Amino acid sequence: MTPNLRIAIRGTGMFVPERRLTNADFEKMIDTSDEWITTRTGIKERRIVSEGESTMTMALEASRRAMNDAKIQPEELDLIICGTVTPHFLLPATACFLQAELGAGKIPAFDLAAACSGFLYCLMTAAHFVHHGTYRNVLVVSAESLSRITDYQDRGSCILFGDGAGAIVVSQASNPEQGLITGIMGADGQGASLICIPGGGSLTPFSDQVLKDRNYLMRMQGREVYKFAVSKMQELIRQTLEQSGVRQEEIALFIPHQSNLRIIESAATKLGISMDRVWVNIDRYGNTSGASVGISLDEARRAGRIRTGDLVMMVAFGAGLTWGSALLRM
Ligand code: UT7
Repeated sequence: MTPNLRIAIRGTGMFVPERRLTNADFEKMIDTSDEWITTRTGIKERRIVSEGESTMTMALEASRRAMNDAKIQPEELDLIICGTVTPHFLLPATACFLQAELGAGKIPAFDLAAACSGFLYCLMTAAHFVHHGTYRNVLVVSAESLSRITDYQDRGSCILFGDGAGAIVVSQASNPEQGLITGIMGADGQGASLICIPGGGSLTPFSDQVLKDRNYLMRMQGREVYKFAVSKMQELIRQTLEQSGVRQEEIALFIPHQSNLRIIESAATKLGISMDRVWVNIDRYGNTSGASVGISLDEARRAGRIRTGDLVMMVAFGAGLTWGSALLRM
């Protein structure tokens, strides 16, 4: 099968902060237990930023690692896309700070806000630019400091989230077999309020009231999102397979967004995919939103689970509601 978009992932990198937040830590902070968190989510610990760290500092480290892996110099980059909903500053784009820190040229740099689907939205965007020859080398980095917007008084959501960054360099493919076989992007704005930060935007700017109501923090209707996620993950995998004509058994590795182990396992069971072909690291990092697929891709490559010529499927869904998938021949 010929790839729709002829691109190659030339290098990958990831970064997570040193600081750990374990289930035992949560037992001291809120009314919960390691047992509840583990059985309901599969999470054991998450990494969170310390003072002086931010989405940009994590993105910078992950990007440097990806560029090292790709053996590419900053001046060879043509575009930087940063997927984030927890930017370094509210203005300007985190990608612009990154451009300066990396020492890249005066190349275009922008942020893309698609929450947990961010990495895949960025990859699709980069792939089109590269395939059509507009740019040769695109740095894609998805980074999130969810701990900065998590309400640690809300036990129904705070146990989920962690911080981190995943980066790739997308370049033209040298091998005609290599590339993005197919990809899907979608959104349903009817579900926009299911995961949102109600205060601090242009409708309700920062004020004493916003602070008092803690509305500068993320609100999530977990149950509703859970239901959506379980059906969407299966549907996405099915649609991506159908669109590509690839059989499930041909996929070397599935990389799902690490939102909740039960969501991942439910999709795998329904589709008859054995869990040894599904990358899982949620136990160590929690849900890092847009960063999770990028982190997983880098980890899986380093673990020798992805080889040249392998078919890899990535799927994600999240706030927006948004969703995305990508089927790649590596
Ligand atoms: O990445 C972006 C997309 N986000 C997601 O994919 C998240 C999707 N949602 C989820 O993963 C799950 O809904 C959660 C893990 C957030 C919650 O799990 P749940 O099984 O949906 O729990 P629930 O909210 O339905 O609550 C069940 C019970 C409630 O008690 P009662 O009313 O049955 O007595 C909660 O009060 O569990 C209670 N509960 C907790 N108990 C101990 C809720 N949070 C906790 C907690 N510790 N941390």
